[in-house]
Amino acid sequence: MKSDTRTLAIIKPDAVGSGLAGKVLAVLEDAGLSLVAARVMTMSRAQAEAFYEIHSERPFFGDLVDFMTSGPCMPLALEGPDAVPLLRKVIGATDPAEAAPGTVRGLYAEDKSRNAVHGSDSNENAQRELAFFFGEADLLG
Ligand code: RTP
Ligand code: MG
Repeated sequence: MKSDTRTLAIIKPDAVGSGLAGKVLAVLEDAGLSLVAARVMTMSRAQAEAFYEIHSERPFFGDLVDFMTSGPCMPLALEGPDAVPLLRKVIGATDPAEAAPGTVRGLYAEDKSRNAVHGSDSNENAQRELAFFFGEADLLG
């Protein structure tokens, strides 16, 4: 569909490690997001530091890098109508205590740090983040 747009999600190490990857993906797909490409990988510290560079001065940065490198995660290229805001809506608020019922974080996040999923927060960041994990040949579909 030409009107569809793309965004980047990551099923984070807490969810993959707890065997929840399939359930998280089902919530995303049920919301109207389709898979374009997917990986299973463990991020290096350099990758995690670069991916979350925008948070490098925040007090939680070290813990965030520790968490994101703690085990396998699943970067997903997703497509759908208004994919960036749609993904943000379905993943829910950063803190699961504030996440709406039925959202990924409302259902599966442990706390504000170990919160099951990442979603790009703007079209510009989605393009950068898609290119961070996927090459052009991965994104032809
Ligand atoms: P994300 O980038 O992962 O989709 O999450 P987000 O936009 O909802 O939240 P953001 O402010 O961008 O924070 C990035 C990730 O850092 C961890 N975090 N920990 N302990 C804390 O206070 C804290 N705050 C943020 C979370 O893993 C959050 O998703
Ligand atoms: Mg963010």
